[in-house]
Amino acid sequence: MSKSGCCERVCKLFSPSSSAPAESRRDLLVEGNQTQNQRQEQAPAKQQKLKMPKIFIVYYSMYGHVKQLALKVKEGIEKTGCEVVIYQVAETLPAEVLEKMHAPPKDAEIPVLDVHDLAQADGIIFGVPTRFGMLPAQMKAMFDATGGLWQTGALIGKPASVFFSTATLGGGQETTALTLVTQFSHHGMIYVPIGPSSPLIFSLDEIHGGSAYGAGTIAGPDGSRQPSELELGLATHQGEHFAKVVKALTLGREQL
Ligand SMILES: Cc1cc2nc3c(=O)[nH]c(=O)nc-3n(C[C@H](O)[C@H](O)[C@H](O)COP(=O)(O)O)c2cc1C
Repeated sequence: MSKSGCCERVCKLFSPSSSAPAESRRDLLVEGNQTQNQRQEQAPAKQQKLKMPKIFIVYYSMYGHVKQLALKVKEGIEKTGCEVVIYQVAETLPAEVLEKMHAPPKDAEIPVLDVHDLAQADGIIFGVPTRFGMLPAQMKAMFDATGGLWQTGALIGKPASVFFSTATLGGGQETTALTLVTQFSHHGMIYVPIGPSSPLIFSLDEIHGGSAYGAGTIAGPDGSRQPSELELGLATHQGEHFAKVVKALTLGREQL
């Protein structure tokens, strides 16, 4: 598609500092017989009813790396004024297996998600450690329990995003995110990657996790590496970026 066609038109429409003459900007905004000015006059009454969107962070973390990212994502969401609730998914491994894997106890302060509650969120961001390059069984079990939500279409149109942890650089930083995209697609959710929205993903100053698909960390083969400042910064950025998209969609829908 030509850059000077549709893209230019959209940019003009959404840029507050657009240099397009007022008259042609108005032309772009005409919807039926209604102009932007007429819509703005009606806006205050509607805006009074607007409620800040509610965003869920839903994560699984065995050794705490994903949890650290989740807390930073939360900080980023909070910057936007959106409401945020953080959940962990239920463990599916028996206690004796967890013990053999040297998994520390889960944080009792963070509630375990009841899948029915997902319908209440305006947007959901999922955090996962990779398992053989894909999402862990604990998160898949959560998705596998959402058949009822799928049947009623309760998640259709809700924005969704993902952040992740792998042991190694080539261990699944991108493939893991993609395995969440199949879940999003079947639910009709809208995948929100971070794309090139932060310069942090381009940094070559250190080996780091995270990509266009979402924030990420690299735990190291023995799990001893902790998320770096850069990775935590990218997680905060993802929270803020995602919340802005959720806000735009949710509040925009209120205006429809
Ligand atoms: C069964 C299993 C499979 C794993 N598969 C991979 C893998 O394919 N690639 C990789 O880089 N790390 C792999 N890991 C390492 C985990 O991804 C790592 O422990 C995790 O990212 C740490 O995050 P957490 O502290 O939030 O649990 C695997 C770990 C387990 C237990």
